[in-house]
Amino acid sequence: MTFQNELINWYNQNKRDLPWRHTNNAYIIWLSEIILQQTRVEQGLPYFNKFLENFPNVSDFASASESKVLKLWQGLGYYSRGRNMHATAQIVMSDFNGVFPTLYDDLIKLKGIGEYTAAAISSFSSGEARAVVDGNVFRVLARYYGINTPINSPAGKKQFYTLANELMFKEDAALYNQAIMEFGAMQCKPKSPACNICPLNQTCYAFNNHLVKELPVKIGKAEKKHRFFNYFICTQGDEILVKERQAGDIWQHLYDFPLIETLELPNWMDPSFNNTVKDFFGINTEFTLISYKKHILTHQIIHVHFFALKNYIFNFSKQKELNWVSLSKLDELPQPKVIHDFLEDNFKNKME
Ligand code: ADE
Repeated sequence: MTFQNELINWYNQNKRDLPWRHTNNAYIIWLSEIILQQTRVEQGLPYFNKFLENFPNVSDFASASESKVLKLWQGLGYYSRGRNMHATAQIVMSDFNGVFPTLYDDLIKLKGIGEYTAAAISSFSSGEARAVVDGNVFRVLARYYGINTPINSPAGKKQFYTLANELMFKEDAALYNQAIMEFGAMQCKPKSPACNICPLNQTCYAFNNHLVKELPVKIGKAEKKHRFFNYFICTQGDEILVKERQAGDIWQHLYDFPLIETLELPNWMDPSFNNTVKDFFGINTEFTLISYKKHILTHQIIHVHFFALKNYIFNFSKQKELNWVSLSKLDELPQPKVIHDFLEDNFKNKME
């Protein structure tokens, strides 16, 4: 049996029943693919259902407020993906008469849709013969064919894309693409794949040459940058002072608190940290540590300290993005996960 037939056979016997596999509606497939770029299937499912319930079609998505989109996206991280989805829904309304495109060449021009997503949506919705190449596909091909070119090098990318498209089962592109990704996710797993029961083991290069652990090869990534966010919590009755984050940094248009970022872990006994806080919040201000959380993002590690602030003065004209909001109103606004968790831990009973 050919590699393609083996994969499809395996898929027919082992596939998970997932809602986006029962449709060829490009809008619904797009929703699922963008969410699944961000998270695993089990965690992505409730997000997929929530988005589809709130926005049954692309027109509902396009006419929603950005804040509502970000609120639904809350917890997935990488919020630019949520914003790009909103922009894309609006472009589909204005440039495609509200009909979500199904062709690769149209899809690839849309915001937030790269080669992988364009191939996935076009093959799943219209059967266009475009091979998907995601982390699963890189791994399956690298192991089965014994390719040690780094998957994140330009040469590797070219080599894997060429091979993937040669292998494409053109008679049923959707089935083949789903099959190879599912096989990567469930059988040819990154860690401890069950090679002894794999239907492809007799012809798998990595299995037969004891290279399963070594493949695929990836070249080293840059170290994550450490950042130190010190949040100051000011409450007044049932209101709390919040800040809408601006463009140019992570978490654009999400809500957090008054923030002093430092270049290293703050030592709050240190006069220079004290002076910085007093410069911001007035000479009489006092602060006490509430909690610390390490928040890991794709390229950054954020060390977050939360402080309670007393006897403060704000210069609202200098910090225009600051606002008092009630805790229940804040619950409706989009927040980074670390802020949401902090509120849950400290103010949950006041938010309902
Ligand atoms: N990951 C990305 N796309 C997927 C899909 N369509 N089904 C399952 N997992 C996926």
